[in-house]
Order: sequence, then structure tokens, then C-alpha cells
Amino acid sequence: MSSSLRPGPSRWRRAASIVLAAAWTRPETATPPSRPPPAEGFRLLLLQRSPHQGFMPGAHVFPGGVLDAADRSADWLGLFAPHHGPPDFGLGPAPFSQAAFPSLPHTGDSNADNTRALPEDVAFRICAVREAFEEAGVLLLRPRSSPPGPAPGPGLALEPPPGLAAWRARVRRDPRHFLRLCAHLDCTPDIWALHNWSAWLTPFSRSATRRFDTAFFLCCLREPPPVYPDLAEVVGYQWSSPSEATESFLSKEIWLAPPQFYEVRRLANFASFSDLHKFCLGRALEGLERWLPIILVTADGMVHLLPGDELYLEDSDFLENLMSTEKKTEEIMKEGKQFHRIVIHNRHLYDIHVTVQSKHKHVYPKNSVVSKSHL
Ligand SMILES: *[C@@H]1O[C@H](CO)[C@@H](O)[C@H](O)[C@H]1NC(C)=O
Repeated sequence: MSSSLRPGPSRWRRAASIVLAAAWTRPETATPPSRPPPAEGFRLLLLQRSPHQGFMPGAHVFPGGVLDAADRSADWLGLFAPHHGPPDFGLGPAPFSQAAFPSLPHTGDSNADNTRALPEDVAFRICAVREAFEEAGVLLLRPRSSPPGPAPGPGLALEPPPGLAAWRARVRRDPRHFLRLCAHLDCTPDIWALHNWSAWLTPFSRSATRRFDTAFFLCCLREPPPVYPDLAEVVGYQWSSPSEATESFLSKEIWLAPPQFYEVRRLANFASFSDLHKFCLGRALEGLERWLPIILVTADGMVHLLPGDELYLEDSDFLENLMSTEKKTEEIMKEGKQFHRIVIHNRHLYDIHVTVQSKHKHVYPKNSVVSKSHL
């Protein structure tokens, strides 16, 4: 196996995404009778990115975006007071386990000044909540008067304020307006309803010019809130169960990038909304894994290797390089035993192979290997 060299370290943009999982009890009217109803009692919000976006055009994604200086402004302190504040804003103690690989040079971080007043964990949650508002019009806020501590059950999004469009336009123009909106509604972002879920680094590829270091949060909602796509970055949306999202991907109705596909398959482990919610509460204080997939280019496809896979190398060379082999994907698969990988056969056919044990009390996807009939 050889690696192809490319000079110049990437500039990492820090970002947050939010997986909104809503309990789903509505009668199925739109589903054609040929399709069995989904087993999971919850649906995930997937936003369709505009075909004109530079990053992942046309893809279906979870709401999210890049961290802004406004997300960690000291001005938030006043809004969170008196019930919540440093050091942990009621989020609980930080988990001790942290993966060492890879460590990233956070170059090009123009916000490294005294505006960095909030702990990162809080700032990333504010970012995720702000992006859910900007892209989908969903307001994950909590009245400032509510008692401190975690809410007893799954959350509920706030009714959109009168003048939603004007507020959103202001926030999109200048993210500092999000704090003003929260103050106006006498609410704080509901940072306690967001659970640490996963973290992904954009793998190196020859085409990816922008690379993100993205924290994924999961938020359970008692019912699906109304969604108002911004019609700029986001042109459409759907609420799909994990199995429906998988099916739409395989049948080419939607396109998912490998990390989103992985997360959808991971969420297919949960049979019901309450299972998922209990699971999130149960592992709230566990650590988080941040993954840098390494792309192995084969003679006829691609494999995204994840930590734990026998071919995965914790070598910082692969921050900026691909692996490649003359062999075909099938040969690579026959030779191996210890898998944690996403096999990319083509744009709409991924297989996930997992034989490793999950860490930090998390779940990994079950093997999901699509039959050849889809080829
Ligand atoms: C979430 O994960 C981050 C990164 O590992 C950690 O710093 C933070 O303390 C975690 N938050 C909670 C509430 O567990």
C-alpha cells in the first residue's frame, strides 16, 4: 500500500451538528401500503442542502454549521445567570476519557481572542441550537425561569416567534442576533437537551478543500416541531426513521455522506423513542470518540477506515494523505477480520462492516451489507 503525498496542512473549521430525533406517533397516511411501517418509533430531521452550496451540494444532512465567535461570547453569561454559569453550566463533570489521536493544529482560528469566554462544550451547543434555528426555524430554547437541572423528559421546541423570517434574516447576517432573540424571548439555548453523541473530522480527499472538526449532538423531542427551511442553504427537509432514510439513500432519492449514513445506521439500533432517550441519559457522562476516517482507495472503489479497523493507522500522515492499493475492494475484504469501515461501492451504495467492540458505552452500527440486487 502506498500513500500519495500532498503538502500543506488543512485549515480546520470547528463546527457542530444536531441530530433531532422526534417521537413519531402520527398515523401513516402518506406511506404507500407496499412499504411496511418503520420499526423505530422516532424520526430524524434531515435537511436537504441547496445544490448551490460549496460543501456537500444537494446532500441530506443534520442541521449544523461552523462555530462563530458569537457562540462563545461573554454576553451569554448574563443570560444563563443566575441558575447556570461556569464552570460547567449545569452540564455535569467532563468525562475523563479523551482520544489522543489525532491532535489538530488549530490554525487559522481567527476567534482566539478574549471573546472566548464560554467553555467549548457550551459554545458548541449554542452553535448547534443557533444553526437549527437558522437552517430549519426550529428553536431549542428553554425559559430562563425554568428550574435548574436537566428537564425530566425529552424536550419540546419552542413555538416560532412572531416575525420568524425577520429574526432569522438578522441572525443569518450576524450570529450575535441569536443572543438578542433569546433575550427577547427570555430564554436560553436548551444546552441541557443536547447529548454528546459523536465527533467527525472530514477525511482527507483530493476534492475536499474544506475540512471540518464537527461535534454531533443528539436531541430527543417529544414531538416533531414544524420546520421552516431557510430556502437558501437548505431547500427541503424530511423526517425519516433510520430505516426510511437508509431506503431513500439506496433508492437514490436522497444522498448521504458516509458519516451521516453511519449515524443513521447507528440510530437503527434503537427500537423505540424511549429506548433512544434512555440511552442518551444513561451515557451522558461517558466520553466521546472523535474520528478521522482514513480513505483507502482500491482498484474499484473506496473504503473509509475508522479507528479500531485492522488497516487503520494512527499516523498523522493520514491527516493529509490517502491510502491506496491496486487490489479490489472484495480482495481487501476477504483478507481482513477486524473491521470498522464503510465500504463505498458507488455514490449510492455503502456497506458498513463492524466487528469491533464499541467504546464509552456507545453503540456502533450493526453490519449493514446491501444485497447485490441493489447493484
Ligand atoms: C461532551 O464531550 C466533550 C468532548 O469530549 C467534553 O469536553 C464535554 O465535557 C462533554 N460534555 C458532557 C456534558 O459530557
